[in-house]
Amino acid sequence: MNVKNIKTICCIGAGYVGGPTMAVIADNCPHINVNVVDVNEERIQLWNCKDLSKLPIFEPGLSDIVGRVRGRNLFFSTDIESSIKNADMVFISVNTPTKIKGIGAGKASDISWVEECTRQVAKYSVGETIVVEKSTIPVKTAEAVKSILSSSDSEKGSSFSVLSNPEFLAEGTAINDLQNPDRILIGGEHSSSIEALKNIYLNWVNQDKIISTNLWSSELSKLTANAFLAQRISSINSISALCEVTGANIDEVKRAIGLDKRIGDKFLNAGPGFGGSCFKKDILNLTYLCEHFGLPVVSNYWEHVISMNDWQNYRIYKMVIDKLFGNVSKKKIVILGFSFKANTNDTRESPAISICKNLLNEGAFLSIHDPQVNRIQVTSDLGDIGEENNSNWSFSNDLEDIFDNADAIVVLTEWDIYKKIDWNSVNLKLRKPAWLFDTRKIINPEKINNCDLNFWQVGLGNNIL
Ligand code: UDX
Ligand code: ADP
Repeated sequence: MNVKNIKTICCIGAGYVGGPTMAVIADNCPHINVNVVDVNEERIQLWNCKDLSKLPIFEPGLSDIVGRVRGRNLFFSTDIESSIKNADMVFISVNTPTKIKGIGAGKASDISWVEECTRQVAKYSVGETIVVEKSTIPVKTAEAVKSILSSSDSEKGSSFSVLSNPEFLAEGTAINDLQNPDRILIGGEHSSSIEALKNIYLNWVNQDKIISTNLWSSELSKLTANAFLAQRISSINSISALCEVTGANIDEVKRAIGLDKRIGDKFLNAGPGFGGSCFKKDILNLTYLCEHFGLPVVSNYWEHVISMNDWQNYRIYKMVIDKLFGNVSKKKIVILGFSFKANTNDTRESPAISICKNLLNEGAFLSIHDPQVNRIQVTSDLGDIGEENNSNWSFSNDLEDIFDNADAIVVLTEWDIYKKIDWNSVNLKLRKPAWLFDTRKIINPEKINNCDLNFWQVGLGNNIL
């Protein structure tokens, strides 16, 4: 077996997966040159920006690594052609959103971006190239990738080997997840290519954490892992609703069940529903796959994880309206947190988007705060419902002055700064009767004991203090 010694990597796609993953590879492998390329010039400019606080992705610890390795063995550019030409290994890390039209619309993933860059790899690569699927992709995408690549082999004597190496990082903890992964999964058909990729990871990952499977198991494992994680959140959210009406407390239930080693205590936080670019998309992918292979009962089973998530989001919006006497017209509601989770500036599928849109639709005025998301992103996410000139919403990265005369506050993201808010002083600024809704269960009820504030917390029975 002749294992290729990888000296140069090209990663196509400088997004939430490609950027941090390649930064960590470059940091741990100073002997490998890593070129990250993207069609989006603005994004590449930001990755190359001298001011590291302007990187296009906010991820704790990322700017330190980029500061250390950028220009040493990590490079960002739009020169896709020469990066592919020079690479021994090409990672495909582009977006794979849910299809919006045609067969499978609303469920299947749109792999046009994967296909497009595979064609570029087929066109420009020289000699022997290992192509690694990093993006979350539908099962059997490798077949399409192989077929496109093989059609170019004969023309210029290049040869390819395709690997699936799904990324399991979670945003907000990406650097730690990449540096200390639970496992590295490599699916492939050629042991020499698998070894070549494994050798890269061995620079910092223990070998018993690196497992290899066939291509399809690897692709399916990624979808399955995300489906199981999402299912846990829908399960705990369903119980949070039951806690509220029975007088139980979701934290106590969580602790009691989490101590059972078979269940475990992770990923059991009730909230406004899961967001992010992966969970919904991957479950939809899974259900599409099941339908395609004639397994409608399996498909329905997983679809309910999404229905539960939608319902949790809807019931929180409805509850805010109900508590405010069924009318929020012209009332000021402060929204704390717009990203889909803490420690990221990503808003894809954020539960805040639908809750804000629903509240705006009821005529509320929203004062939206998030420490990392920017106004342009919020404007784009709210779309047409957000009136021009911000007449029905305002946005700030700063907590100062956002609470004046508000009728309600809704905590939607679990940012640390919200845990430190002095509710006694905020309380003085509100119009009474006022409500505080904590959908993430991050506020210690004792901290609002002295406030004449109505308080609701997810999963807390007898919700009025
Ligand atoms: C997820 C997977 O965790 C990761 O392995 C995969 O590679 C990509 O998808 P990510 O979406 O970045 O990662 O974040 P994650 O921490 O999984 O959170 C997803 C959503 O679930 C967030 O909206 C989060 O707030 C929510 N969540 C998570 C809960 O509501 N409760 C929890 O206990 C955990
Ligand atoms: P993810 O969360 O999967 O990383 P992102 O949307 O953050 O997804 O990043 C994907 C990146 O891939 C984007 O910056 C996009 O511009 C880039 N991209 C998509 N198609 C191509 C392509 N054919 N060539 C190069 N870059 C591409």
